[in-house]
Amino acid sequence: MKKGFKILSLAGLVGFSSLGFAAEAALPHMSAAQLKANDGKKGHKAYVALNGKVYDVSKVDEWKDGKHYKGMVAGTDLSSNIHLSPHGAGIVNDLNLKPIAVYP
Ligand code: HEM
Repeated sequence: MKKGFKILSLAGLVGFSSLGFAAEAALPHMSAAQLKANDGKKGHKAYVALNGKVYDVSKVDEWKDGKHYKGMVAGTDLSSNIHLSPHGAGIVNDLNLKPIAVYP
């Protein structure tokens, strides 16, 4: 009886994951201080906030040392400036970046 229950629970988990609920709900919240600390300078990670989500751009060449075009820097919320970019918010999908946290 116990064994059967376990298998059912597993099936439930798989079902939820495939709907995308599990991954979305598991995202932690990031504070403004944490975001600011990850500015890409001096070996720090480079995090940017965009439309309510935080992305790690440390491995994106165009964000080297936390610096981007038009004065954009890591450790900040870019949501109000993304309209100034030629690529738009879809760039995170193009680069296959997954959100690491929710912000603010
Ligand atoms: C999550 C945020 C962002 C990521 C991951 C990102 C990434 C990139 C990448 C990979 C490129 C080179 C390839 C391409 O042009 O598509 C690029 C170009 C560019 N980005 Fe962004 N970007 C972000 C946000 C922004 C924002 C907020 C601005 C606002 C000004 C901006 C301005 C630009 C400009 C002007 C270029 C083109 C430079 C040129 O080739 O002339 N980006 N970005």
